[in-house]
Amino acid sequence: MAKNRSQLKIVVLGDSNVGKTSLLNRFVKSEFSQNYKATIGADFMSKEIIIDEKHISLQVWDTAGQERFQSLGATFYRGADACILVYDITSKNSFDSIISWKQEFLNQCGPRQPETFPFIVLGNKCDLEKDRVVSIAKSNQWAKDHELPLIETSAKDDVRIQDAFVEVSRMAMKRE
Ligand code: GTP
Ligand code: MG
Repeated sequence: MAKNRSQLKIVVLGDSNVGKTSLLNRFVKSEFSQNYKATIGADFMSKEIIIDEKHISLQVWDTAGQERFQSLGATFYRGADACILVYDITSKNSFDSIISWKQEFLNQCGPRQPETFPFIVLGNKCDLEKDRVVSIAKSNQWAKDHELPLIETSAKDDVRIQDAFVEVSRMAMKRE
């Protein structure tokens, strides 16, 4: 049976500086800043979206990529309905970290049926084509191999942010 909840908790994970906070600020407040301010611990923002004429309240949790600021432990993973994994297309390291963030999430959250848990991977900063180091061909093949949906986004230019949140919310709602 499809899940019929009007509130979804979504956790956003990924290395420091990939643009997690920027994605949320763009999605929730339609804002973008070039200035980097590291997130400390974790915090959430709420936004209502409409999917198939149904109002869904999203509680989106922003987390710290920097290890020394990950002070809250696992408490904020608990009860998550979906997880967004973010890398930066100009950082090979951040791309290589995605699988360990996914594993970290599964370890900490311990969802039922982990193999079908809704994950989406975002390759952010797609406006920085000139600095790209993770090619579309490479990331697409990787996504196929890992059976993960992948979308390239830009918090700066507002590219496919709404799509990404709607897509992961749909996955969470469809889940049994
Ligand atoms: P932590 O809080 O340390 O985990 O980092 P974060 O993942 O939240 O990164 P944040 O959103 O703070 O962004 C880091 C830097 O990248 C900032 O200077 C942002 O302005 C910049 N940035 C974020 N998204 C984009 C994007 O889509 N394009 C470009 N060009 N810059 C971006
Ligand atoms: Mg942040």
